Amino acid sequence: MEDLLPCFPSTRYQGSKRKLLPFIYRVCEGYDFESVLDLYSGTASVSLLFRSMGKSVTANDYMQYNASTARLMLSADHSALCGIDIDCLVSDVFRDGNPAFNSVEIEFEGIYFTQEENRQIDRFCSNIVDYNGVEKDLLIYLMGQAMLMKRPYNLFHRANLHMRTKDVPRSFGNAKTWESSFEKHMISLFRKLIKFPFDGRPGKSVCINTQNLDQFDAEPDFLYLDPPYLNKKKVAVDYAGFYHFLDGLIDYDLFKKGNVKSPHKPIVNSTSRWKTREGGLEEIRDIIKRWPKAIVAISYRGDGEPSIEDLKQVLGGAGYLVENHQAMDYKYALSKSSNTTEDIIIGIPPR
Ligand SMILES: C[S@@+](CC[C@H](N)C(=O)[O-])C[C@H]1O[C@@H](n2cnc3c(N)ncnc32)[C@H](O)[C@@H]1O
Repeated sequence: MEDLLPCFPSTRYQGSKRKLLPFIYRVCEGYDFESVLDLYSGTASVSLLFRSMGKSVTANDYMQYNASTARLMLSADHSALCGIDIDCLVSDVFRDGNPAFNSVEIEFEGIYFTQEENRQIDRFCSNIVDYNGVEKDLLIYLMGQAMLMKRPYNLFHRANLHMRTKDVPRSFGNAKTWESSFEKHMISLFRKLIKFPFDGRPGKSVCINTQNLDQFDAEPDFLYLDPPYLNKKKVAVDYAGFYHFLDGLIDYDLFKKGNVKSPHKPIVNSTSRWKTREGGLEEIRDIIKRWPKAIVAISYRGDGEPSIEDLKQVLGGAGYLVENHQAMDYKYALSKSSNTTEDIIIGIPPR
């Protein structure tokens, strides 16, 4: 498994656990479980780790692009992926499309991408309807990643196309990445993706807001939680605010529904209980009530809010045996920019 870790698909996602996968692997392999639910799956990097460990995996994220990525990561088969003629597939999905697909060109002029790029996004969305299964999820994954690469800060939180287009000196790396075409990025991303030996049994992906736990039908014996907790400044990361635009690749109508009250016209506005300390704790209480027999693993930072002590109290108060693992105990480097800890809190349910 350790040899596999460098091949995991790279991510451009705030809070991705890709760099911590060796730590997560070391901790989780010490517990006995067969099925796992990754409740806030993001890039699906941890779900893919569990799949590679031979577990039966369900991934969940309330963002539709993330749910599509998880479906790809959990169902892709290496030999089938390697059989894909990527140059042909990518050139086909950008062929002339239905002219009625013009929402990005009309609604998002001057906001995120150039007009020519906006037209390419419209063409992609017009043609993607002809695909299904792994090819469709693959194309959407590659297109979303290419779009992130061409965005300042890899985000959709501001109308800042001018950072790309205004005539000022900028780092050569950024300029080159921003100006490379979607097609070029997609093909090179694909070549990197197939370095990962996708195998293990196929898993499942769902797209449910964890405010609605009654909508889940998975009955896992292990729950992995990497929630969007508040940072040390007590600010919650607004994932919908950062990545909303990618959901238009799945649901094209969203591009017509941007919120005109903000200059960047966000197309998704999802609520999350993790916007407050009390909301986060309430969600953990509901989760352990919904799956009382599952082992709970929570990825957390030492300076997160609610605090690690808060989480331990909720689990301990419900009779769970609580264990705290810290990345530094496993000799994995911490992010240099912070002096906090990266933890995994394990709760073993009472019998
Ligand atoms: C810290 S990120 C997870 C990162 C992930 N472990 C990885 O390695 O990429 C938290 C994720 O929770 C999702 N999320 C936030 N609130 C949610 C909610 N109420 N229901 C479901 N997903 C939610 C966000 O979209 C985001 O992808």
